[in-house]
Amino acid sequence: MKNLQLFTAIVTVSFIISSCEYNVENEDVVIDPCESTVSYSATIRPLIDTNCMPCHNGDGNTPFAPDLTNYNSVQGIAILIKDVTQSGRMPQNSSLTEVEKDAIKCWVDNGALDN
Ligand code: HEC
Repeated sequence: MKNLQLFTAIVTVSFIISSCEYNVENEDVVIDPCESTVSYSATIRPLIDTNCMPCHNGDGNTPFAPDLTNYNSVQGIAILIKDVTQSGRMPQNSSLTEVEKDAIKCWVDNGALDN
């Protein structure tokens, strides 16, 4: 019986917590994930270095993989980079977290700046 009471308490607390979240959404608070500026040098460059460089290092060993070693080459195909990461087509053989995908999307949507 104690277990049942505990269970009921947990369910009640979870319900209260989730209804709070629900209220926040109802107040028309639009949380824009792109609100804060995503930096090329602090966020995007390291992300590409870690996840894309094995194939996109421009050494020609991975045919048809565009060179992503510098800002200009990345900026030139920024929208394509956004598309292939959003769809999960890239990185080949691995995957990005949702946060990483969002960071790329926001950076591109904000003009793919050298910031
Ligand atoms: C394991 C190797 C590998 C990794 C890692 C990888 N790619 Fe690729 N990528 C390729 C190959 C091979 C191609 C060319 C063939 C193709 O388009 O599928 C390619 C093509 C692309 C293209 C061109 C697509 C088109 O339609 O022309 C883009 C843009 C791209 N990759 C972005 C990325 C980004 C951004 C990352 C890191 C988040 C990444 N890739 C990681 C191998 C890789």
